[in-house]
Amino acid sequence: MRQNIAAPLAKRDFDSLAKSFEQVSRLNPEPKHFSHWERLSKEGAAAARQKELAKLTSACSRCHELYRPKYIERHRERRIEN
Ligand code: HEC
Repeated sequence: MRQNIAAPLAKRDFDSLAKSFEQVSRLNPEPKHFSHWERLSKEGAAAARQKELAKLTSACSRCHELYRPKYIERHRERRIEN
């Protein structure tokens, strides 16, 4: 997240962001429970391709709001490197 999402966001590197979001969409640790994970990542990827900053950061905060606490609680050992 920090290296491949937050860093390119800081640089407004939308191509890298689109790729990173595509990867994140494949890293859902609980497909049965985290049912919006893929959609939020795909929305992030689409927003990156369109260079829509507001849409992009809204995908960050919606995913973090829904899943980050649970992820940290249950999958702490599996940090998202993408
Ligand atoms: C599909 C879900 C999802 C999306 C979209 C998402 N994140 Fe995250 N993010 C997570 C989860 C889950 C964690 C906690 C696990 C971790 O830190 O690897 C996290 C953690 C982070 C962290 C903390 C990493 C650390 O080293 O402590 C940062 C920074 C971050 N995200 C930035 C972003 C930014 C910026 C965006 C949007 C451009 C974004 N994320 C979009 C799910 C997402």
